[in-house]
Formats: sequence, structure tokens, C-alpha cells
Amino acid sequence: MQDILEQLEARRAEARLGGGQKRIDAQHAKGKLTARERLDVLLDEGSFEEFDMFVAHRATEFGMAEQKYPGDGVVTGWGTINGRMVYVFSQDFTVLGGSLSETHAQKICKIMDMAMKNGAPVIGLNDSGGARIQEGVASLAGYAEVFQRNVLASGVVPQISVIMGPCAGGAVYSPAMTDFIFMVRDSSYMFVTGPDVVKTVTNEVVTAEELGGAKTHTTKSSVADAAFENDVEALMETRRLVDLLPLSNREKPPHRKVFDEPDRLEMSLDTLVPDSAHMPYDMKELIVKLADEGDFYEIQKDFAGNILTGFIRLDGQTVGVVANQPMVLAGVLDIDSSRKAARFVRFCDAFEIPILTLVDVPGFLPGTSQEYGGVIKHGAKLLFAYGEATVPKVTVITRKAYGGAYDVMSSKHLRGDINYAWPTAEIAVMGAKGAVEIIYRSELGDGEKIAQRTKDYEGRFANPFVAAEKGFIDEVIMPHSTRRRVVRAFAALRGKSLANPWKKHDNIPL
Ligand code: HXC
Repeated sequence: MQDILEQLEARRAEARLGGGQKRIDAQHAKGKLTARERLDVLLDEGSFEEFDMFVAHRATEFGMAEQKYPGDGVVTGWGTINGRMVYVFSQDFTVLGGSLSETHAQKICKIMDMAMKNGAPVIGLNDSGGARIQEGVASLAGYAEVFQRNVLASGVVPQISVIMGPCAGGAVYSPAMTDFIFMVRDSSYMFVTGPDVVKTVTNEVVTAEELGGAKTHTTKSSVADAAFENDVEALMETRRLVDLLPLSNREKPPHRKVFDEPDRLEMSLDTLVPDSAHMPYDMKELIVKLADEGDFYEIQKDFAGNILTGFIRLDGQTVGVVANQPMVLAGVLDIDSSRKAARFVRFCDAFEIPILTLVDVPGFLPGTSQEYGGVIKHGAKLLFAYGEATVPKVTVITRKAYGGAYDVMSSKHLRGDINYAWPTAEIAVMGAKGAVEIIYRSELGDGEKIAQRTKDYEGRFANPFVAAEKGFIDEVIMPHSTRRRVVRAFAALRGKSLANPWKKHDNIPL
């Protein structure tokens, strides 16, 4: 009996060694942790339950019969993050470059199936040379099996991808279909075709980092949601994100005990909006002052800064925040900001996370680059996302809410549940100057007259009261009481029940 137990321990030890000490050292030399070390950081201590530790590939060609490693290059199983269950896979670069074989894919599929059945997120730690070249089409089939599950799991359980090494070719499409992608600076990259192919086909000379590094994907392509300095930071931030999310679409988001007063007043908010309508101010200040303990988990921080997206807690309850940022392009809506916010709103709605919208928007960005780029379709994404969302929606207009952008930003007309405005709000079809230039075109030569007309227009429309008189704004509130108001609003909406008409699925303007 003792022999058998020792045999098991010996086999486990062999599996834990992955591709061997030399390759582990090489991994460390690159500043990367191994697949198992990463799971140690990600999961609560001692919580990891591994599956398929002894699974080996079945390939025989190209000398593969002699190259077998127990586990076949991916560590899979489940564990907990602050006591809440998650399924994980962690690709082991020390085993054949973490390449994906038929059996490697089967291991991933197994935990994805379990995650969907049991209702827990899937977190994938990606570090792989792509398809196991020796296995050919069997490997491609494996990828497609994973892709299919990514699609089916979308909106059922949160899916998070952490890119911690290479992720190239068709392999990128699995993370691309997950809800969040995090990258590690300088050691991870994602691209459909690498620098060599790019050079051959287009003659462009570009490094892997420039083509698909963390900076590229968080600032230019918006493929990734955040970039972190190293493996440990990326994994710790993944833990923080999971803390905010429900485990599946069958659950409400978690409620956490917080050390903050729900009715805390913030007198400084009364002077947040500058006297001049043309002066910017930092909308992040408002978010942080509203949030429990000032904690704002920002998503896509480095992309389309004219809109802010992320999670806060209000009286312990997770809330998604979408906010125009007057500090960047005056908070205008454009292609990038509409796409960014639309995806975020849809994530929140899929997982029953209430949405707080903070509005200071001068309209949509004009210009040929926007029109040629399809701002009509992209802007419609955000409109569509808000219009279809059935989660509790609370809106606060702090200053400008002009034109179509007023409608888009969770207005009453798109089933906003509770719509507040600060006294500084200006809810109008456009700014006073533009309006007067159109209505009084014949008087444009007379500066004095036009100035008076502008003043009159401002007096009439540059306020929240016209909208409030019509019931489009439920209440004009004091800025300093905003936290108390929105906390109470979401509490009042806890029992909200609203369903869209039956359909197979909608046809959001993609
Ligand atoms: C089998 C692979 C492999 C792969 C790497 N290895 N990629 N084995 N299939 N795809 C092995 C190497 O032979 C090596 O084995 C070990 O992993 C480490 O690789 P190195 O090259 O030494 O590491 P490094 O210098 O860090 O370079 C990493 C790399 C490079 C950039 C990822 O290995 C590389 O370019 N690999 C090929 C990438 C690729 O073309 N993949 C297929 C893409 S097509 P030893 O024994 O020496 O340690 C694809 C299609 C998916 O993925 C389609 C889905 C629809």
C-alpha cells in the first residue's frame, strides 16, 4: 500500500515539474512565473483542486511519442477567490511552449463545461505558442471546441483572460470572446499574424511589442482592458475584479460589508462644476467621491478617455459606472467612446449589475473621420445597449446634456429608472451659441443682438428645469447629496422587474 501511495506522490511530483527545471529557470529568467506559481497567487491558499493532472497527448508523429508530459501543458481545475468559486486554466509554457494539443484543449473544455453547469467564472491564464504544430488539424479542432464554449458561456458566466506570454494566430480569438482581457507589460503580446508575416505581406517593419504588446492593446486597439507591470500585479487585480462580479447570470452581484456611510455628504461637490461652461473638471473626482471607500475599479483606463467605465460599490452593492469625462475632448461621444461604453453596458446588463450614468456631454464629435469611420453605427451601439438594458439605471446630469447624446446617455426615454440633474445641468438640443446662429441667422451681422439672443437662450434652456417640468428629470438635486440620493435610488430599485419582448436574439449594430 505504502508503495502505491509513494507512486502517486512521485507521479504528482513529475507532473508539477512541467517541462523540467531548466525550462522553469528560463521562464523565471524572463520575469515570468510558472503556470502553477500563477495559480498560487490567483487563488486562495490551499483552495486549488486540480483535474486531469495525468492527461497526456496521444500524438505519435514527429517524435511526439517520446515527448510526453503529464498534464500536457495546461494546469486546470477550480479554486476560490476570497471564498468564491472560480474555474481556472493556466497554460504551462515550459511544456512544448504551452502549445495547444487536442488533449490540452479537452482539459480546458472540461472546466468550461463545469463552469457553465455549476455557475462560476472561468479565468484563463494564457501563455502559449499557439496550435501544437506536430498535431496539425487536431489542434485546430481543439481551438474551435474552446471557441464554441466561449460563445455559449458568454453572458452565462464571467470569462476573464490574462495574457501572460505569447498569444498569437487564431489563438487570440478565444480571449477576444471573453469579457475582460488583462495583459502583462513587456512579457505578453497578442496578434493575428506576427512581425515576420507582417513584413512579408505588407513590408512593414514592426516589433512584437509594437504590434501586439500591452501598450498597443490598451491604448490603440482597445483589445485589452488593462495592462499591469508583472504577473503578480495582474493576478492580484484579477482577484479584485472577481470580487466585484456575480459568479454567473443566475446570481445577483455580491454584496460586501463596507466601512462607509451611505448618506455621506460631499460638500466639495457643490463647487465641482466650474462657473464657465467651457472649463473642464475631472469627472473621476465625482466617481471617487460617490464610491464606497473611494474605490473605483476602472476598465479601459487608457483608451477613449472621454468616457470613463468601471465598477464601484454603493452601500456594498456592485454598480457599473459610465461617465463622460470633460477633461478629454470635452467629454464628447465619438466612435471609440461609444464602442467602449456600449460593451461595458452590455456586460453589466448581462450580469445584472446596476448602472450609474454620469452625464456631461456636448454631443457627438463632428467630422469626416468620424462619419467615414461609421460613427452612426458605433454611436448606435451605445444607444442600443442602454435601450435594451433592463438592470436598474440611475442617471445624474452634472452639466451638459446636449442633442442626441442626451438621449443616448441613459435618458428617461431609454427607460432610465431614476434621472437626476444637478442645478448646473444644461439639457438642450444644443449649446446656446450654436442654437442662436441657426435660429437667428439673419441677425448674425449684429453682434449686440446676437449676444442678447444667446443670453436669452441660455436663460431659457441652459438649465435642468425645462426637462424637469416635463418629468424627464425626476428631481433636481444638490451635488453634495448625490451619494445619498444614488444609494437610495439603487436601494429602491432592488426589486425591479423588467423584461424585453421575446426574440431569438437582437441585432445590435455591430
Ligand atoms: C509545438 C512549440 C510551439 C508550437 C513553441 N513550441 N511553440 N511546440 N507547437 N506551436 C516549443 C518550442 O519548440 C520549444 O521547445 C518551446 O516550445 C519553447 O519555444 P521557444 O521558441 O524556445 O521559446 P521562445 O524563444 O520564447 O519563443 C516563443 C514563440 C516561438 C514566439 C511562441 O516558440 C514560436 O514562434 N512558436 C511558434 C508559434 C506558431 O507559429 N504557432 C502556431 C501558430 S498557428 P523546446 O523543446 O526547445 O523547449 C496557430 C493557429 C491557431 O496557433 C488557430 C486557431 C483557430
